[in-house]
Amino acid sequence: MSERFTGSFTQQEPIPDEGIAAALDVLRSGRLHRYNVAEGEAGEAALLEQEFAAQVGARYCLAVASGGYALGCALRAVGVQPGEPVLTNAFTLAPVPGAIASVGAVPVFVGVTEGLVIDLDDLAAKAGQARVLMLSHMRGHLCDMDRLMAICDAAGITVIEDCAHTMGAVWDGVPSGRHGAVGCYSMQTYKHVNSGEGGLLVTDDEALAARAVMLSGSYMLYERHLAAPRPEVFETIKFDTPNVSGRMDNLRAAILRPQLRALEGQVTRWNDRYRVVEEGLRDTPGLRVVDRDPRGRFVGSSIQFLLLDWAPEAVQEALRRCAARGVELKWFGGSEPVGFTSRYDSWRYAPSQPMPSTDRVLRGIVDMRLPLTFSLDDCALIARIIRAEIGAVFQGAAP
Ligand SMILES: Cc1ncc(COP(=O)(O)O)c(C=O)c1O
Repeated sequence: MSERFTGSFTQQEPIPDEGIAAALDVLRSGRLHRYNVAEGEAGEAALLEQEFAAQVGARYCLAVASGGYALGCALRAVGVQPGEPVLTNAFTLAPVPGAIASVGAVPVFVGVTEGLVIDLDDLAAKAGQARVLMLSHMRGHLCDMDRLMAICDAAGITVIEDCAHTMGAVWDGVPSGRHGAVGCYSMQTYKHVNSGEGGLLVTDDEALAARAVMLSGSYMLYERHLAAPRPEVFETIKFDTPNVSGRMDNLRAAILRPQLRALEGQVTRWNDRYRVVEEGLRDTPGLRVVDRDPRGRFVGSSIQFLLLDWAPEAVQEALRRCAARGVELKWFGGSEPVGFTSRYDSWRYAPSQPMPSTDRVLRGIVDMRLPLTFSLDDCALIARIIRAEIGAVFQGAAP
């Protein structure tokens, strides 16, 4: 009898007791809106911002309704105009080009390497085409951030980092989100901290931070923020910055604060699981493990591998066989987006030219979630199943 995995790839851990207790306090108080605070009370949203700013070493932090909102807010705050080109990754998920489209701007896609990071040669070639790069650290793969920043600084490009998959990751000692002008994070259920929905935006630029606070819908109550610029900075922008409401509330902030304090330990637990799967898959015939740059400390909340140059039918057969044994894999090479997978040519509102080497990589990417509810034994079992099924299809059916 062949082994079968019976766990759920979408089951998260419960919210920690401390978060539940803090959430109940907010519920009992009735003061859920971030600016609805009692005399002398800071409020959970303001405290969350203060603590996250300290955690990543940023001067300013704003909590908002979602990661996608943070990205759109960052584009508005750096002054991106309708019709303006914005560089971004060809390998990312729909909220990234969606944020660009939400401000009427036009994505200009930059290719992906076999290491699943942005192709820096392609970026250098396209650097003259835009003044903003929305860099997606897709699935936690960190590119050579030193070279990326050198390219962007030389070309005068403002970098907005999409850290939806890199909260807790570090490049050469610098937290992910702290290289560019703005870092944006997501706290949606499948990310590294979970409030259902939620986003954080960090920056050291005071005018940008003030605009972001106004944009999020601060009703001139910006003095209640604990990680925002001085009130004088708001005087210069407050009548020219529209309100595009997308605030964080005290209930979700209460759930998040204890999770952020526990993040380091969670990163270790994710990476322990990742390494077990990675080791189990290494040297599988036909399958390429994606090696990580040792200068980056990633968060292994998902794992990707490549079935490079496989025929589409063979990939589908391998995925079907894995699914029959309880292992859910997602493929970026399908002709249409399914669930969370999509790629640059799926976003038909955004013009794109074919990118042959990127297409080759995208057609080979297989993706799997690694929730913390999996034990290390579960991870070893999952790797054994993938190894057996992919190896069997490769030896029998793949070119
Ligand atoms: C790469 C990437 N960027 C941004 C986001 C946006 O986050 P949110 O769902 O919080 O809007 C997501 C969410 O799935 C994502 O995967």
